[in-house]
Amino acid sequence: MPSPREASPKLKLEMEDCKIKVDKTMERLLPVSDLAESPLYEAMRYGVLSGGKRIRPFLVMQSAKIFGVDEYRSRRVGAAVELLHSYSLIHDDLPAMDNASRRRGKKTLHLAYDEATAILAGDALLTMAFEILADPDTHEDPRVRIELVSLLASAAGGSGMVGGQMLDMLAEEETFDIGTISRLQRLKTGKIIAFCCEAGAILGKANPAHRQSLRNYAHDLGLAFQVTDDLLDLEGNDEEMGKDTGQDNGKATFVTALGAENAKMRAEMLVHQAKAHLKIFDRGRGDVLKEVADYVLKRRV
Ligand code: IPE
Ligand code: IPE
Ligand code: MG
Ligand code: MG
Ligand code: MG
Repeated sequence: MPSPREASPKLKLEMEDCKIKVDKTMERLLPVSDLAESPLYEAMRYGVLSGGKRIRPFLVMQSAKIFGVDEYRSRRVGAAVELLHSYSLIHDDLPAMDNASRRRGKKTLHLAYDEATAILAGDALLTMAFEILADPDTHEDPRVRIELVSLLASAAGGSGMVGGQMLDMLAEEETFDIGTISRLQRLKTGKIIAFCCEAGAILGKANPAHRQSLRNYAHDLGLAFQVTDDLLDLEGNDEEMGKDTGQDNGKATFVTALGAENAKMRAEMLVHQAKAHLKIFDRGRGDVLKEVADYVLKRRV
């Protein structure tokens, strides 16, 4: 019997398989350079390769699989979003933001290199994500590529992750009500997760109802994912997590606002709702995504 705290053996295998494939793609996309600016490329590789669950690429690939998309394409989109996510972690860890010392089991990038290199490596990873999406190798139809670029831009920028990070910073100075905290979390984490699931639908030229269902699923999943992250900040173990925990004092999270028990109940409700949105997919096509939702609740890392 799998431990209730772990993904099922089948899901674990599928996630490991995705990690191997996406890591190979990212390894190829992040060249070792012998140019004078090579420390930039070394730092990018340090921030991306090794460590990380790769849940975002997994969501891209599994959503795309529902529509029979060629895996080469969904791997590239998964790699693009993982590069962008890694940038967001590098900048999140900076002294001006969360001032963290460990990430993915290693020293944070600004400690392993320096702050300027960490900022620049983040900038280059962010930009590279769009370069990959705009490349005809990702999809031969330019309309598909433009849709991916445009959706990721809105998910990652001021109307998405960066806007959420700004609210996260502001929350250290002022008290937000639960509605604003919910919006903060949806922007900070939910929008990129929603991009991942919708990207599968875009690559597969899914019909509007299928696309909307994936968007709704991701909306609830993304929020549940951040609630679990906040719970793990309180209850998790630095060694297991590979990053600093106990960092969220003064932050606006569901855990600080509602208490751990209520936050857990909210995450359970969100996961239940997320799975309900997948009913539209027949022949078990939504089953892996349902398992991902359960895993998000149980994860310890
Ligand atoms: C951490 O993301 C930051 C959040 C948005 C909660 P992950 O928990 O996916 O971190 P990695 O990619 O596995 O390191
Ligand atoms: C960061 O949230 C979310 C991002 C957009 C990077 P956290 O600050 O809670 O992430 P961790 O706990 O450092 O991974
Ligand atoms: Mg943060
Ligand atoms: Mg942080
Ligand atoms: Mg956190």
